[in-house]
Amino acid sequence: MEIDPVCQSVLQDLEEAALVCDLEFKIIYVNPPFEKMTGLEAAAVLNLPGPDILTSGEDLLALLAGQRDDSRETAVRQPVFIKTARGRREALLTVITHRSGPEQNGFILFLHEVRPETDPLTASSRTLRKVRKEFHHQADFQRQVLENEARYRSFVENFRGIVFQGDKNCRPIFFHGAVEQLTGYTEADFRSGRPSWDKIVHPEDQPAFYEDAEKLFRPGGAVEREYRIQQRDGGVRWVHEVAQNIAAHPLDPIIIQGYIYDITDRRAAEGALTRAKTELTASLDQLQSLFSGIVEALASTVELRDPYTSGHEKRVTLLACALAREIHFDENRIAGLRIAGLLHDIGKLMVPAEILNKPTILSETEYDFIRIHPQAGHDILRKIAFPWPVADIVLQHHERLDGSGYPQGLKAPEIILEARILAVADVMEAMVSHRPYRPAKNLDRALKEIREEKAGLFDQRVVKSCAGLFEEKQFRFD
Ligand SMILES: [Fe+2]
Repeated sequence: MEIDPVCQSVLQDLEEAALVCDLEFKIIYVNPPFEKMTGLEAAAVLNLPGPDILTSGEDLLALLAGQRDDSRETAVRQPVFIKTARGRREALLTVITHRSGPEQNGFILFLHEVRPETDPLTASSRTLRKVRKEFHHQADFQRQVLENEARYRSFVENFRGIVFQGDKNCRPIFFHGAVEQLTGYTEADFRSGRPSWDKIVHPEDQPAFYEDAEKLFRPGGAVEREYRIQQRDGGVRWVHEVAQNIAAHPLDPIIIQGYIYDITDRRAAEGALTRAKTELTASLDQLQSLFSGIVEALASTVELRDPYTSGHEKRVTLLACALAREIHFDENRIAGLRIAGLLHDIGKLMVPAEILNKPTILSETEYDFIRIHPQAGHDILRKIAFPWPVADIVLQHHERLDGSGYPQGLKAPEIILEARILAVADVMEAMVSHRPYRPAKNLDRALKEIREEKAGLFDQRVVKSCAGLFEEKQFRFD
């Protein structure tokens, strides 16, 4: 019979002399303090009958027999003589039962020498308390280890991939899981190296696989990768691998440990999603370009009826978008302003052509016709469900902050920022462009007018940005 590891570990570290006997009182273990106390080496006493070492006035075998199957694990004490290398010594023997499972399988004996300065009975009690506490502690620890092992085993056994340990040549030291299901090869095939794991990696993925080796073969090196493998029957599967080199030192043998699982379905779903996204993006691009085409075609219908202001919409839009960027509009808001810029005069479709084409200054009555165009533009555009306030921007682009504008005579707080931007861009473009009834103003003159003479009409933040664009950033209409 052999002593169990828990008992051995407790007795090994004890300061008191202890030995373990089997049920027939044969010595199966002695601890280092016993060797020290008796001067006898363990090898010399193991397997000897207990009475060869311990003698007593009482029958020790009978005493131990009384202790057998003692479920309460009470201790019995008996004065004994110990045989030592230097003759007999008197000691107090304390005996408790020894169990490594539910059954008793021996006795643990403690020896306390009888000396004038110590009371062996007190020493014996102290030792028992210490040993029993340590046994409980060790038993708890063992139980925890077993529980952890069971958990780990359950994880490994239920894992639907492969858990492995392998050497630097991709030969498995430990391989567990759905090896055959995933590869078509058995664990034995891989153990024999026919094939080794790297040889079933898809040829197109092998260069990257081997490149990882440099990183992985460093002590503690780790990789996480996805690649294809070729199955025995020629099928191809995608796998995800997490692997780490558990060698701690450069001279330690390289041992790679990790797990591999099938991600073919996930990759297929990702592929389908990517294709769907590409198709959707293409469709959106197509729609976007169709939409831009429609907006530009609409804008050009106004130009056809009003050839004197040719290119006005595009130039106004260019300046309005630049101004919007200056005051930090996001791209989506700028996109809305761009549409409104291109279509801001679409209401002129409702103005008689002879008024639009008149090369001289208009009469007040004629000008009243022109004044309907923001409302007319609004009426056309409000039927389109733009994600931006395009119809309102168009409606308000001739409003002025002091209420002097048209068609509603709105004042500052009622005019949306997009309309204020468009108003500045519209007026600036008109001033620096030639008209049949007046020459173009130069840039300085136009800026002076909008900054000073018309100061109360326009949003000063927009006007300031406009001056900055022309004077500092060299903005030009063409
Ligand atoms: Fe206008």
